[in-house]
Amino acid sequence: MKFTIGFEKEDLKVLHQYWDEIIACQQWSEGKFTKMFEEKWASYNGADSVAFSSWGGAALAALEYYGVKGKTVLCPSNTFMATPLSVVKAGGRVEFVDCAKDDLCMDLSDLKEKIREYKPVAVWLVHIGGHIAFRVNEIAKLCKENGVRLLEDCAHAHGASWGDKKAGVWGDAGVYSFYATKTVSTGEGGMLVTNDKGLAEFSRKYRNYGKFEYKVEGLNYRMNEFTAAIGCVQTARIDDIVVWKNEYARKYLDPRFPNRLKFPEGMISGYYKYIVFDPIEKSTGKVYDQPCHKIMGKNYSLPNTDWVASNHWCVPIYYKGEEI
Ligand SMILES: Cc1ncc(COP(=O)(O)O)c(C=O)c1O
Repeated sequence: MKFTIGFEKEDLKVLHQYWDEIIACQQWSEGKFTKMFEEKWASYNGADSVAFSSWGGAALAALEYYGVKGKTVLCPSNTFMATPLSVVKAGGRVEFVDCAKDDLCMDLSDLKEKIREYKPVAVWLVHIGGHIAFRVNEIAKLCKENGVRLLEDCAHAHGASWGDKKAGVWGDAGVYSFYATKTVSTGEGGMLVTNDKGLAEFSRKYRNYGKFEYKVEGLNYRMNEFTAAIGCVQTARIDDIVVWKNEYARKYLDPRFPNRLKFPEGMISGYYKYIVFDPIEKSTGKVYDQPCHKIMGKNYSLPNTDWVASNHWCVPIYYKGEEI
């Protein structure tokens, strides 16, 4: 299957209407569509939502608000370098936690040990691949008991749910990316979701140089109106995208790939990736093949992370993608 952005051609008409309206009304930033995108996403995700120009800006807002400067933040090594780098940029120290082999996400027992060892102020939990981390409930409980902030990296997790909860609502905040390859994309963009009113208020100022009191020292991480209009259209389409991907997986991929990543009861994946544990022809490669702890020169061993880096592959799965 050829790479295809998850965009429904039927939505072009309404998108062009939105863009015409933006051009006519002369407000190309900080306008009605950013607000509309946030409202739609909040209602979809079940948490207050603040739009950013990227995942990175939203991540920095959350890390700064929770005061990670000079403190340790735990992070999985099996993730994109964006996750640990956000901590470095916010002035924190990063230490890495191993992953589990069944879901590729953070391992609970290693997290327990690392909390004891490093006494972190926060943990980044990454929902790698498009499903919810299988141990999210236990991890949220553990963080709460230890007074550690839990941040969810939802950059892969659009459309993922477990029971009635969507990614980003287990922890203190979740951060989505709308980069061009994601299940739901606006080209570039990010969304912070949180039920912490203080963080939501801080984030709205952080993305806009602290306007107008200038007590919050943020920079420009605003989303423009044209991008937000795509976000509105995409949020209305997300359920269709997730249903389509799940039906495609059930019908065409599951029978061919018995040795695949299998989800627990009640979990729905947004299928950013379809992950298998056998080498396959025409794979799109690995989610990540270079563990972050190695890139950052940490000399400890994370055996499951190393195993995962060499023993998983991704089968192409794109919304209405053309078969080749
Ligand atoms: C796990 C993960 N976190 C964070 C990001 C960063 O997102 P953005 O490029 O929108 O800043 C990505 C992007 O690919 C990602 O895969």
